Amino acid sequence: MTPLIDPFARAISYLRVSVTDRCDFRCTYCMTEHMEFLPKKELLTLEELDRLCSAFVRMGVEKLRITGGEPLVRRGIMTFFQAMSRHLETGALKELTLTTNGSQLGRFAKDLAAAGVRRVNVSLDTLDETKFARVTRWGRLPQVLKGIEAAKAAGLKVKINAVALKGFNEDELFRMVEWCAAEGHDLTFIEVMPMGDMGEADRLDQYWSLEDLRSRLAEHYTLIHLAERTGGPARYVQLEETGQKIGFITPLSHNFCESCNRVRLTCTGELYMCLGQEDRADLRAPLRASEDDAVLASAIRAAIARKPKGHDFDYSRQTIAGQTLRHMSHTGG
Ligand code: GTP
Ligand code: 5AD
Ligand code: SF4
Repeated sequence: MTPLIDPFARAISYLRVSVTDRCDFRCTYCMTEHMEFLPKKELLTLEELDRLCSAFVRMGVEKLRITGGEPLVRRGIMTFFQAMSRHLETGALKELTLTTNGSQLGRFAKDLAAAGVRRVNVSLDTLDETKFARVTRWGRLPQVLKGIEAAKAAGLKVKINAVALKGFNEDELFRMVEWCAAEGHDLTFIEVMPMGDMGEADRLDQYWSLEDLRSRLAEHYTLIHLAERTGGPARYVQLEETGQKIGFITPLSHNFCESCNRVRLTCTGELYMCLGQEDRADLRAPLRASEDDAVLASAIRAAIARKPKGHDFDYSRQTIAGQTLRHMSHTGG
């Protein structure tokens, strides 16, 4: 089948699938405290998710990342992982993975590994228990640390994702780097993006440019630039002193849209062609309209033909531009 190529000649090989908008945490930069979630009947069933993802795999998607909300709170989700592993076996899919808050890894790490998952990205912004409770509102650090341990014990490679937050985890930069080195985890920092209806003043106050973070790191370590990529937006360096890998995701300070290879599917079957834009295509209707996958395939192609050049997030001039009202949990980051 002809691969998916967008109007800017970018091949789409990476699908991120949000399997639920629910989460057992309420991170302040991601959700409000009292979120309204979708009624269950709006969600795609696991069978429908399978059909959709399989269609994308046939059209050249090689990397599938399951996200949410928190993907591991979706009932029956292991069945879906097990089903997707058949695409790993045929070689059509190169990577099946997930981004999680880690709270349920204690229960599921072994099953994930058995389904062919090799790597997990765990969101963790602080190693301080009190601060962790503050930023996640509902989360408890020890449970997440146990989850990470379980992942490691199951043979999964762990990458820690930390959102860089000024005045929040600035003082923990070296502690996090050292902890990851000691535990053998990779670590990626992410610039906070203007998503959801959180106060403008707060977001600007929170923004910590990774250029600054990187120079602070360079005061203590020798940074070796790495050309290697994981198929996501992160650029990596290696710390000469410890050998560990540190990634930077810089949607604000250095836009990476020109090399975008991904689209996002929400749990209701909407395809967002860009994280930072509102345009989306409904794939649930064509999915339900016909058993014939050709109908679905043409809806997917029509959507990819509308993929925009990039996001419009911008904090320069001390205002927020390009904000989306959608919460991150809707499209899964
Ligand atoms: P790797 O496979 O480890 O490279 O993962 P990844 O970086 O593709 O996935 P992960 O879920 O760890 O992504 C981390 C975060 O990067 C996401 O939650 C988003 O905040 C951000 N991100 C990922 N893709 C995009 C993108 O296309 N645009 C923007 N602006 N941010 C993105
Ligand atoms: N800006 C940047 N990253 C965010 N995430 C959630 N909300 C935001 C935001 N506004 C991150 C989480 C997690 C991933 C799914 O998205 O920390 O690592
Ligand atoms: Fe949940 Fe992740 Fe959003 Fe935090 S960032 S509230 S863990 S979906």
